[in-house]
Amino acid sequence: MNIVILAAGQGKRMRSDLPKVLHALAGRPLLAHVLDTASSLTPESICVVYGHGGEAVRETMAPAAPGVAWARQEPQLGTGHAVMQALPYLTGAAQTVVLYGDVPLTRPETLRRLCDAAGDGLGLLTVELDDPTGYGRIVRDNDRVRRIVEQKDASAAEQAIREVNTGIMVIPTARLKTWLAKLGNDNAQKEYYLTDVVALAVAEGVAVATAHPDSVWETLGVNSRSQMATLERIYQRNIAERLLEDGVALADPGRLDVRGSLLSGKDCSIDINCVFEGNVIIGDGVSIGPNCVLKNVRIAAGTRIEAFCHIDSADIGARCSLGPYARIRPATVLDDEVHIGNFVEVKASQIGAGTKAGHLSYIGDASLGKNVNVGAGTITCNYDGANKHRTVIEDDVFIGSDTQLIAPVRVGRGATLAAGTTLTKDAPDGQLTLSRAEQKSIRGWKRPVKKK
Ligand code: UD1
Ligand code: CA
Repeated sequence: MNIVILAAGQGKRMRSDLPKVLHALAGRPLLAHVLDTASSLTPESICVVYGHGGEAVRETMAPAAPGVAWARQEPQLGTGHAVMQALPYLTGAAQTVVLYGDVPLTRPETLRRLCDAAGDGLGLLTVELDDPTGYGRIVRDNDRVRRIVEQKDASAAEQAIREVNTGIMVIPTARLKTWLAKLGNDNAQKEYYLTDVVALAVAEGVAVATAHPDSVWETLGVNSRSQMATLERIYQRNIAERLLEDGVALADPGRLDVRGSLLSGKDCSIDINCVFEGNVIIGDGVSIGPNCVLKNVRIAAGTRIEAFCHIDSADIGARCSLGPYARIRPATVLDDEVHIGNFVEVKASQIGAGTKAGHLSYIGDASLGKNVNVGAGTITCNYDGANKHRTVIEDDVFIGSDTQLIAPVRVGRGATLAAGTTLTKDAPDGQLTLSRAEQKSIRGWKRPVKKK
């Protein structure tokens, strides 16, 4: 099959400078969702018809869509005119499927069903709506489809028809060219309507079949921000249902956002208001507290993420505990049983098994060994104003509170750094290192008193 994706429309009601099909649903452009669906059908060709917004649509999408042809439609003279622009890119495949770049939720199974129903004839994906206003109506005669009439061209009787054209159709490729050449624009909108091919098929005795999606949401399009928000909720609800079916305990399926993919092991639990971006993988028994953001993270079995953690591009071991309020930044690798507590930021660091940093610390560009204790307020001073430097802390080190490690610096195995130390040179293995003005007390000292 060939697939043509119509994406040239302006989307005025979005009130945006961004072309409509580039607006994000679940973190990705609408058009990316449609391209995914299209690719999943393994068609012989995919052609996107773009136009409004100049080259932005193509430039944004083409790098991630190898093998897709791009046809520019300028000006936009209707859906029939849009498909004409794709003609040079179609192969000899028998069926040509027309999708819309702003209808992102159609399931591949539905499209396969439509193609099967169409056979070597024409196939229309239709739905019955309580309020069909705005849509093209399916005009039947003794159950057989005769034509589609657009809202603006429909008589009062036709406007009462509740079966509507979703816009998604399958057309025999061999007929498409001649049918498109016959389209006129003598209608209320002075457009070349793709829907007029239905009457042409009927006139030539080509069978017209209809198929229907399991759910109406599969055919919903985006014309406004409000519809965008509606589709986002439907999309998220579907993901939540899938996670529940997979055995994930969701505190509230209505308060979860997955903008990418979330793979989970057994007996995971996710509290409210968590956002997952990119590719997130969580192992068996992982629990995630409320209000966490996880992006491109892998978390091994049994780890607990407490409330309000932000974790980006990190690899977290098994049986760790993080947060509440921990921030893990890119290129961080935590081994098993690591504890990162509240208001601790970790960046581009490797932390060995059993190491703990419980409170108010910054660990950046550092390697920490096993069973290190990082006291409250410890800071790796990794940046000299021009360059970043590494800190190395070996196994079994104890770092007292409020310590600064001026990188590059190394703390040897089993060393202890006294609280308040500013470490400027390497600390040897097994010894206590401290840098601290000696404490003294002044006998007989009097506090000043306010002058009258
Ligand atoms: C179209 C159908 C209507 C159907 C409705 C479903 C026609 C004539 N009408 O109407 O039967 O019920 O969709 O939503 O086909 N587009 C282009 N180039 C153009 C015009 C449109 O690429 O010149 C694209 C748009 O970006 C959009 C799609 O085609 O993705 C549909 O266009 P739109 O103007 O929304 O069509 P409707 O008038 O809603
Ligand atoms: Ca529309």
